[in-house]
Amino acid sequence: MSVVADRPDLDLDPHRLVDPEVHVHGDQYAIWHRMRRQTPVHRHPAGDLPAFWSLTRYADVRAVYRDPETFSSRHGVLLRPVALGEDPGGGMTLALTDPPRHKQLRAVVADWFTTRAVRSLTDRIEDCVRSVLDRAYEQGRCDFVHDVAGRLSMHVIGTIMGVPERDHDALFRWTNEAFEAGVSLAAHRELMAYFIDLMEQRIDDPTDDLVSMMAGGTLGDDLLTEEEIVLNCENIIGATENGRLAIAGGMQALLEHPEQWARLRADRDLLPTAIEEILRWTSSATHSMRTATRDCEIDGVPVAAGDRVVLWVPSANRDETVFDQPDRFDVGRTPNRHLALGIGEHVCIGGTLARAQLRILLTALLDTAGRIESAGPVQRVRSIAVAGPEHLPLLINPR
Ligand code: HEM
Repeated sequence: MSVVADRPDLDLDPHRLVDPEVHVHGDQYAIWHRMRRQTPVHRHPAGDLPAFWSLTRYADVRAVYRDPETFSSRHGVLLRPVALGEDPGGGMTLALTDPPRHKQLRAVVADWFTTRAVRSLTDRIEDCVRSVLDRAYEQGRCDFVHDVAGRLSMHVIGTIMGVPERDHDALFRWTNEAFEAGVSLAAHRELMAYFIDLMEQRIDDPTDDLVSMMAGGTLGDDLLTEEEIVLNCENIIGATENGRLAIAGGMQALLEHPEQWARLRADRDLLPTAIEEILRWTSSATHSMRTATRDCEIDGVPVAAGDRVVLWVPSANRDETVFDQPDRFDVGRTPNRHLALGIGEHVCIGGTLARAQLRILLTALLDTAGRIESAGPVQRVRSIAVAGPEHLPLLINPR
């Protein structure tokens, strides 16, 4: 059934897209649906946010992601109130640099995110999954976002970054506070102080972890500056919010589609397609932004140098010209060339890791969980940057 036919009285004004409240109620899907048909390249005037173009079709979103020369990341990849000025990470973090510098920076950290590196973490991820699920089973209930998906994501990234086990709880608390208050991690003083301290330790005494790798990393002939290291730590930790929202959103989707959970239970061979469908369905990164470096055209619409272009990823992933019955959650969907992790130069570096976490967690749930039921209403996060459940209260028992 179409998302529009479901809600005939809905206000489909595209300008509502910048209101986080719209994303809490799920109205954005109907707005995107209409924009894909009627105004796929839509101009939003300046307000609290700068003026920008909205892209909602798969082909346009994909084309912009794949053309970093014309569409720069240097001036920010998320819409940001004009009053805040440009993102301080511009030109310094992985997400906010352009080629050729971006490639050099990515090469500094890439080793930690390869298939081989992620495979070597399997035991650690399995241990963590066992521990978070045992705790949930013991209590018979959990907030899946916080207690399972959040704890798992933070433990895994903490391990990669070289945060000692004893500090994982503090890291988890600080990042939760920042995510829940909807503020940038950089605004969380304890967290930033922690990473400055960790960086200084690793500069003096490198070990085998991501922060040490950045501390010894070079761009051309120069070592990364301390500011670059800390901002990149923030970028990587911040990006894991997507992981937790995708994991929790996936659980929510399976609960809301019990027949799909039953299919997966009956046929574990569906796990790889189920994971891709969870990524497509949850599309937890709601938008990416780029800035045009030259005058160009998108779908025949002239875009001027300096214009901001916003790619609405969940809309691309529901494009009916690419996906058969896109509003259907189907764990067997194939083909499924979603853009949930971006594509091209800046494609998500944590994609393999996110998939591994989903696979290990779902396998453990299929192996050990008995009853999994909703224990209360689910509210979505109030954001135009990320999507997923804010809390997911569950009753959960072992088999
Ligand atoms: C399912 C969960 C995830 C989703 C949906 C997701 C989504 C994305 C997307 C759409 C981009 C491209 C942004 C752009 O081009 O502007 C991206 C980039 C990135 N992601 Fe993820 N991500 C996820 C998990 C993770 C995890 C677990 C990590 C951390 C280890 C991570 C780290 C990053 C980083 C560092 C970048 C920037 C890469 C670059 O610019 O070269 N992501 N992610």
